[in-house]
Amino acid sequence: MPVEAPSFNMTTYNQIFENNRKWVASKTALDVDFFEKLASDQNPEYLYIGCSDSRVPANEIMGLDSGEVFVHRNIANLVCATDLNVMAVINYGVRYLDVKHVIVCGHYNCGGVKAAMQPKDMGILNPWLRNIRDVYRLHKEELNAITNEKQRYDRLVELNVQEQCVNVIKLASVQQEYIKTGYPIVHGWVFDLKTGLLKDLNLDFEKILHDIQEIYDLTDTNWKR
Ligand code: CO
Repeated sequence: MPVEAPSFNMTTYNQIFENNRKWVASKTALDVDFFEKLASDQNPEYLYIGCSDSRVPANEIMGLDSGEVFVHRNIANLVCATDLNVMAVINYGVRYLDVKHVIVCGHYNCGGVKAAMQPKDMGILNPWLRNIRDVYRLHKEELNAITNEKQRYDRLVELNVQEQCVNVIKLASVQQEYIKTGYPIVHGWVFDLKTGLLKDLNLDFEKILHDIQEIYDLTDTNWKR
């Protein structure tokens, strides 16, 4: 006999569909054509790359509606050149949706960043968290100089966002679209779970682009094999 799912679980699960019907009703009450318009096309100005953490809901913290932000989330908001998923999202967002802003948003108390600070074998997470250990290595002097462990953890969250922004700026799609149109601009943010506030790290996009193009310039499209 199949095992019956616990009833408390199903109540919570079914509630989602009830919530969904209420959400539809609230949207159509304000605009009868809301879903008609939503189905026709998407034209978001923002591409948001954030952490999968359930406490950081992208649209909600930015106060943006359906259709207003293209979203990618993974553990610790990483932008890896070998991750086909994030690469496809950025390429599509930048080249085809023509987003004006690319945001990498980290958050304090990030479990992924915390895990990368532990001297432990984490199985399948090892190659993923290696990217954060690499951020630590790049900024070892600054981080090791912070004696307070919580402050060091917070700073690594910020530096991880900064380095993932650099990874976005290394991409051909971002460099080429920026030359053509002046967009996208890349921004680094940190979300503070304790206050709900977003902090803009105010990274100097133009300077980072200029600095990294010394080595990562991918703007020449006439390269011949
Ligand atoms: Co996180």
